[in-house]
Amino acid sequence: MTGLSRLEKTLLRLQSQQACLAWAFERIVHRTGPVIELGLGLGRTFDHLRKHLPGRDIYVFDRVNGAYAECQPDPRFLILGEIEETLPRLRERLAGRVVLANSDLGSFDRESNRRVAGLASDLLPPFMAPGGIVMSDLPLNLKDFDEVPVPDGASPDRYYLYRRQD
Ligand SMILES: C[S@@+](CC[C@H](N)C(=O)[O-])C[C@H]1O[C@@H](n2cnc3c(N)ncnc32)[C@H](O)[C@@H]1O
Repeated sequence: MTGLSRLEKTLLRLQSQQACLAWAFERIVHRTGPVIELGLGLGRTFDHLRKHLPGRDIYVFDRVNGAYAECQPDPRFLILGEIEETLPRLRERLAGRVVLANSDLGSFDRESNRRVAGLASDLLPPFMAPGGIVMSDLPLNLKDFDEVPVPDGASPDRYYLYRRQD
């Protein structure tokens, strides 16, 4: 058997996500503006976001609420449904204001990954503030963004960083 085990792939992805989040927190600490989390899942990343960004509006999207009881978002900021339907509804409220978006929509289903990466690529740009950061577990194709090398502690091809041009 060659290559990485599922455990190793998961570990690398989560380590990379944590390193990218730490990098992003330093860059937005002095900026106002909301944060978007695409993919609440069990609520682990959301819990990390709210711990490191106290007082920040964090809008969380998922088709279902499967988060641990202790990782529940404020219901005012939890938007349930398919992102292709729910994200456009928030566009007027958040357009051009989001300073950090984490797109964590991936799974082990290649076709689903291709689809959600396309959705995130199409839907996120209008929300982002100039200089805003998009992080993703899947490679995205974002118009008017530069790809940023991942920081130390993150593995290339396990997490992806983009910055909106000013
Ligand atoms: C990898 S999990 C997120 C993990 C999460 N960040 C955590 O820390 O536990 C991916 C999530 O994306 C959600 N998802 C995938 N495609 C979606 C879509 N089109 N609309 C809404 N949610 C979607 C799934 O329901 C799943 O909960």
